[in-house]
Amino acid sequence: MPGLAGAALPLLRLLPPETAHHLTLRALTLGLVPPPGSAPDPLLRTTLWGRDFPNPIGLAAGFDKNAAVPDAMLGLGFGFVEIGSVTPLAQAGNPKPRVFRIAEDGAVINRLGFNNDGLDLVAARLAARSRRGIVGANIGKNRDSPDAAADYEAGIRAFAPLADYLVVNISSPNTPGLRDLQRRHEVTALLERLLAARRAAAPATPPLLVKIAPDLTVEERADLADVALTSGIDGLIIANTTVARPPGLRGVHAHEPGGLSGKPLFAPSTALLAEMYRRTKGRVPLIGVGGIASGADAYAKIRAGASLVQLYTALIYQGPGLVERIKSELAALLRRDRFASVAAAVGSGG
Ligand SMILES: Cc1cc2nc3c(=O)[nH]c(=O)nc-3n(C[C@H](O)[C@H](O)[C@H](O)COP(=O)(O)O)c2cc1C
Repeated sequence: MPGLAGAALPLLRLLPPETAHHLTLRALTLGLVPPPGSAPDPLLRTTLWGRDFPNPIGLAAGFDKNAAVPDAMLGLGFGFVEIGSVTPLAQAGNPKPRVFRIAEDGAVINRLGFNNDGLDLVAARLAARSRRGIVGANIGKNRDSPDAAADYEAGIRAFAPLADYLVVNISSPNTPGLRDLQRRHEVTALLERLLAARRAAAPATPPLLVKIAPDLTVEERADLADVALTSGIDGLIIANTTVARPPGLRGVHAHEPGGLSGKPLFAPSTALLAEMYRRTKGRVPLIGVGGIASGADAYAKIRAGASLVQLYTALIYQGPGLVERIKSELAALLRRDRFASVAAAVGSGG
């Protein structure tokens, strides 16, 4: 990254992760991070759900939970940005410290627990923007809510008119019981209500996606593929952070409780992506996320079945210049293999 942001990276790394994140958001709000300035490559343009993405590289949920800087992140070159997770009521999340860098492994463990400003404030921020560029909204439930479905319904009502797509996050490991919503019976009943809520939001009926965990049993994976094919949802995001700890993690924080993201998540999340692409026969759009740190990583996800990809953790280690680097590496790989578009490469690795 040229200039200020690149110079700031080693300094930010000396601070506790949440402080560094807070300062990064402040700098972005103040416009201190310069835009990349390179021309968009037409080869990376792609269309999904009738929407035109300038490139398939997105910012994953969790970086901009409160929609403070979606346009600044689009300005860094992301093809789309996902804000959230947002819960109906603002909540503080778990006690600090709750984010841990594992630099040796290019990884992070977080147990934030859906700290966010709540639907009203975040929706007001989205309503105030000019709506240039694609922004999705990721919704969650309040920790102490007695009715999870009602929380997600509220998220759909609030964001359907404001977001280009909606994500039902039932895979965060940091809200007790949340991941149980991925079970066949629970997810079927939940999605029935949420698809009805989206219908009720007409004429604003953005695509509705479900974000799943990398820690599912074979039976759960088969069930979710079935649900994705039959329920009427528009896609899956694969995957959230993992509660597994792959052998060989080196950092002193490797055994903190929470969700692990970054490089160690790349192989398991890509394997799950490929499996779900196979199980859904390529008929369900998939967004691949987990451990992407290079154009080759993004390309591998696309070849495994992702129509779009997202990243977060690598940004912490490589800074905002990563986005342009990934895009030019990805375009070079597509050209090397003579793909005429991103869409032509989707699922070509199987
Ligand atoms: C600090 C942090 C906070 C996150 N918060 C959310 C969140 O609120 N909602 C969500 O769906 N995913 C959240 N995620 C998960 C990411 O969106 C992504 O699925 C995961 O980190 C894997 O991608 P990565 O390896 O590129 O980071 C968070 C990840 C991190 C590191």
